[in-house]
Amino acid sequence: MLRVEDVVQTPVEFSPGLLNQFADVVSRYPKDKQKSALLPILHLVQAELGWLSAPAMDKVAEYLKLQPIEVYEVASFYSMYFLRPQGKYMLEVCRTGPCCLVGAEKIMDHISEKLGVEEGEVTADGMFSWRGVECLAACGFGPVLQIGPEYTFYEKLTNESVDQLIDDLKAKANN
Ligand code: FES
Repeated sequence: MLRVEDVVQTPVEFSPGLLNQFADVVSRYPKDKQKSALLPILHLVQAELGWLSAPAMDKVAEYLKLQPIEVYEVASFYSMYFLRPQGKYMLEVCRTGPCCLVGAEKIMDHISEKLGVEEGEVTADGMFSWRGVECLAACGFGPVLQIGPEYTFYEKLTNESVDQLIDDLKAKANN
């Protein structure tokens, strides 16, 4: 399994293609208001690199002429930004009350056992990670999870449906 402490925070250079996308995003905002482009630019960086390392956020700060702390504050506030490496597929299980009443905690235990990793860790093949998240707004259909990066929803989970889901993703990755 891959642990965040094992990951070297190596310097980052953004590709010319990514820099072109940055320029396109910045051009949508008034001159000298490039800070407004921070959220979409962080999404672009995460899509390319898989997560937001400190060097990547520093580079974004440099690009937008911001202080690094301004980027860290935003990236750490929104849960859709990953500040540690994630698997290709991130299983996010609702852990709010209504879903817990119908077995969300047992589903998380099952996922942990099936994947062999704890919450926030990445499987050795880099395919999966999982975490508990707050209400996913499908409270009548729990237990519920969503899977990034497309954020597909799965409802009324059972151990069997979770197994099937994971096996299908593995098969998809191998095709
Ligand atoms: Fe789980 Fe709302 S409590 S979706």
